[in-house]
Amino acid sequence: MCGIIGIVNRNKQCVVQDLLHSLKRLEYRGYDSMGLATLYKGGFLACRVQGKWEALREKLYKKSLERPFEKPLEGTLGIGHTRWATHGKPLEKNAHPQLNSRVAVVHNGIIDNFHVLKKTLCHQGFHFESDTDTEVVVHLLTRYLHEETTPLGACSKLFQTLEGSFSLALLINDLPFIVAGKKGHSPLSVGRGKENYTVGSDAIALGGLAQEIAYLEDGDWAVIAPHTITIHHKDKGPVEKSFGNTPFKPLEAGHHSSSHILHQEIFQQPAVINTTLRETIKALPDALPLDMHSFSRITFVACGTSYFAALVGKYWIEKWARIPCQVEIASEFRYNPPPLFQKELVVFISQSGETADILASAIHVKANRQHLMALVNMPQSSLDRLVTTRLYTHAGPEISVASTKAFTSQLMVLALFALEVAHQCQKGGSFVDKKHQSTKALEGVGALVSSVLEVEPLIQELGEELAKAKHVFFLGRGLCYPLALEGALKLKELSYMPSQGYAAGEIKHGPMAIIEKGVWAVALAPFNACFEKNLNSIQEILARGSRVVVITDKKGKDFFKTLHVEHVLCLPLSQDTTLPFLYTPPLQLLAYHVALAKGNDIDQPRHLAKSVTVE
Ligand code: M6R
Repeated sequence: MCGIIGIVNRNKQCVVQDLLHSLKRLEYRGYDSMGLATLYKGGFLACRVQGKWEALREKLYKKSLERPFEKPLEGTLGIGHTRWATHGKPLEKNAHPQLNSRVAVVHNGIIDNFHVLKKTLCHQGFHFESDTDTEVVVHLLTRYLHEETTPLGACSKLFQTLEGSFSLALLINDLPFIVAGKKGHSPLSVGRGKENYTVGSDAIALGGLAQEIAYLEDGDWAVIAPHTITIHHKDKGPVEKSFGNTPFKPLEAGHHSSSHILHQEIFQQPAVINTTLRETIKALPDALPLDMHSFSRITFVACGTSYFAALVGKYWIEKWARIPCQVEIASEFRYNPPPLFQKELVVFISQSGETADILASAIHVKANRQHLMALVNMPQSSLDRLVTTRLYTHAGPEISVASTKAFTSQLMVLALFALEVAHQCQKGGSFVDKKHQSTKALEGVGALVSSVLEVEPLIQELGEELAKAKHVFFLGRGLCYPLALEGALKLKELSYMPSQGYAAGEIKHGPMAIIEKGVWAVALAPFNACFEKNLNSIQEILARGSRVVVITDKKGKDFFKTLHVEHVLCLPLSQDTTLPFLYTPPLQLLAYHVALAKGNDIDQPRHLAKSVTVE
């Protein structure tokens, strides 16, 4: 996790303001501590804080938030870092840059051999002040600078020595350039702009600075100077890279000023869903192998919310195309890959395209020459660059840590993907009509989601009450089961309350024992083939003292009149194609309002980061 940025300004402009702007964009990679350092008159000017971006800004300028940017640190080149703690607690002493008087380092990922290196360096008299693995880089390079004849020789030796999956950027006190390098999956890109050359964790960090960017590969390291960027490979020597246009305009990647980005992203869903529908219909013919009918199985690999989207996709594919489909958690798949058929399509689903376990799994599948493709939101992300076939989810940058609009846009791509697979598998035939009707229904989903979002005032009231619950179950069957899992995850990560998603039929196989005063259940009960079964489950939990919220539709709602259900939310009628889109937004809003009632940090929940870029 962690985000890194390095900027070399060609003009005489002080670099701090640019570093701060980039750190704001990078906050999604971690936000428990922050820091930056500039090079000025042969030394470092550094500022580090335990806490978020605002704390860094406040400390830097030592004045109120309303009167920013009066007295920045001097220096035209510098590095910055936003941290998600791995080695060492989120304290100021462990914040980056880690530095001594000679070297300053910002780092993302893990240096696997840091224990051995630290032991040797301690014996050699180096004194460590932090609990980080990063500090090893500082002292090791200091030693190499002493031993080697040139600074670049010392850097080359550094990248030969360090092991693990990491990226880093560093300053040397008397040299007017930044050195940056990577090993393994941690992403690192270099950028060329009108006024500066830059290096950063991703294109988002460089948004607004770079016009063109190039991505470093495993083992590459670069020297970013005011007028040149030179790239080397640790074993092969100098390498050429082609630069392409950056995928982000400054505003898209910038930070939003109004409150709660999560709320904005929830309400962007109708528009995002429509864009995704339009773009996916255009892209599908080129993205899918033409002989899908000869594939034995489809496997989805994903994490978190993307994993739950994949579970919905499995349901659609198996129902419509009658192809077996399995869904794997990437962190399990990478170490225990299941046997794959020769004709199997492995689809990696990721909003960020930077999730470490997804990348490792995709590299494994690619190395075994299996058919792979990606459903990814971020163009030019590491996953996007790894595959030759992809469908984009067109949600636009999702900034808030809890995923919302990325989920519903993944659902849209999956629905269209499943319809196309089914169409190919049945060679047109009887499925032509079904595909036509379902596509028509999907065209209406954006408007339906808009109408569903109007239930917010009811959910706000409910959220305030639910915030007092001890434990919350989310229950659903069929398509509603993955939605129950997603509802529970959203509530957990935003409200910090214990919550669990269950297949409604499974609750009596143990979980029911938890029910007592203070336990709530949110039951997803559309009027479909499972409605009566759901009604039974709801009665069983009511009988044991759980308080219940039911989310149903116009046909279902009357059945709850005689039961002691305290809250019944009524949604438009749905069918298999549209149901997941309609039942998701109320769950997102519920988690939002519970978190709001508890006074939690909505966009940056504790202990989390938007992209999980370390194992
Ligand atoms: O970027 P990805 O889709 O690969 O991320 C996967 C999960 O880390 C992500 O969905 C996470 O669970 C979200 N915070 C959930 O809201």
